[in-house]
Amino acid sequence: MTDAQQTERTLILVKPDGIRRGLAGEVLRRVEAKGYLLVAVDLRTATTELLEEHYAEHAGKPFFDSLVEFMASGPVLAVVAEGNRVIEGFRVLAGTTEPTTAAPGSIRGDLGRDWGLGVTHNLVHGSDSPESAAREIALWFPVL
Ligand code: RTP
Ligand code: MG
Repeated sequence: MTDAQQTERTLILVKPDGIRRGLAGEVLRRVEAKGYLLVAVDLRTATTELLEEHYAEHAGKPFFDSLVEFMASGPVLAVVAEGNRVIEGFRVLAGTTEPTTAAPGSIRGDLGRDWGLGVTHNLVHGSDSPESAAREIALWFPVL
């Protein structure tokens, strides 16, 4: 390969359940231990408008309103991380959506569980494609 591989960026959120449980540091530790670079980190309570935009692909689904309400229920830690294949790499670190069956070793598998709530609480969000990452980073960190 003659061209250098392009460095990627992804948007990570430690969701309100992760902040309430004191797991923000543990998530950042795993991201850094994997070797990714932290580019931006910001603790904030997101507006409903931002969250509806962030999760626009799920608008109209039965869990959408509960998801937005859950995500607005307290502060989230918004993070931009950088590194080759970081989008895919963080999705693997996070584990699959359902914490009950997420692989041990992953954030959701090690630290999450089913709490019997109306919407799945699973500690973290990670962008799922380069297009999503660009859209989400522009939404959460317009200055970047
Ligand atoms: P995320 O976007 O937050 O990184 O999660 P994901 O890709 O693994 O999952 P996705 O399908 O995009 O769903 C977004 C979030 O909505 C909540 N959810 N709850 N039936 C349910 O209770 C349900 N389905 C989805 C989860 O918080 C999920 O992460
Ligand atoms: Mg998703």
